[in-house]
Amino acid sequence: MSERVWSTFQAMRSDGLLVRLSIQDLPKTRIDDGVQLFVDNFFSEETFLVAAGISRNPEAIAELKTLVTESLKDPACHSVICCEKRVDGKVGRIIGVSSMILVTEVRPDNMQDMKRKTKELQTLSQLMEDASLLNIMKKLNISHFYEGFGAVVHPEFRRLGIMTEFLKARCLACVAHNVPATGALMTCIASQKAAEKENWETVLNVDLQELGRKYGVIFDNKIYLKPIRDLFSYVCVDRFLDL
Ligand SMILES: CC(C)(COP(=O)(O)OP(=O)(O)OC[C@H]1O[C@@H](n2cnc3c(N)ncnc32)[C@H](O)[C@@H]1OP(=O)(O)O)[C@@H](O)C(=O)NCCC(=O)NCCS
Repeated sequence: MSERVWSTFQAMRSDGLLVRLSIQDLPKTRIDDGVQLFVDNFFSEETFLVAAGISRNPEAIAELKTLVTESLKDPACHSVICCEKRVDGKVGRIIGVSSMILVTEVRPDNMQDMKRKTKELQTLSQLMEDASLLNIMKKLNISHFYEGFGAVVHPEFRRLGIMTEFLKARCLACVAHNVPATGALMTCIASQKAAEKENWETVLNVDLQELGRKYGVIFDNKIYLKPIRDLFSYVCVDRFLDL
């Protein structure tokens, strides 16, 4: 599949700098840069990864980094980046990444596939399995869909609408690749707000405190979820009923 630009837009950063941004496919030659953004800004911040304690164990970080690298190289994975739009058309600094994986009834997603070595990755797999979208999609008669694998924006470029653009691009990619739906666990306020803005449908509410009790981990809602929807994470699905 050739690399494609899904959208371009401009935004004013809080320091007054106007940035011209582009949402485009992650080039194969830049996969390592994409992975590094996940390692630097996703592993230590994303709600489930924090609860599983990934960033407290270097071995777990290394294991998850390998998994993310393999996933981003997997042809079933579709990843887009946000980068500054350059006049020469080249891909500059990567400031955001959004990935999703094609899940079918016969092909479970990578988290369930993998052989987990560290305790932290085992815990993460359990948490993810409990919140899996596969059964929900089956109930909705959707045989295959793109499941969100992760989205991250560099802290210097947050609140510029990049996550919202990522969700738009996910839907455009579904149409372009003839995939009937996409869904994701929206595990923080910003992604929940972006999903709401894009009219994604909530198909599952996960009580994080209950999930935490089940697997002996703590979801710290004071840090991650307090301003809205206290105890809940949720999953969104955008269905293209006319396909
Ligand atoms: C989640 C993340 C990708 C959001 O990226 P972003 O580009 O800053 O998001 P957007 O700018 O599109 O913001 C979407 C909405 O959330 C709001 N928002 C953003 N950060 C927020 C915060 N910390 N608290 C409350 N609202 C917030 C924005 O104002 C916007 O709402 P608005 O349009 O009504 O103003 C980014 O915060 C991140 O990388 N977090 C760490 C990794 C992570 O948790 N990923 C989420 C996995 S689902």
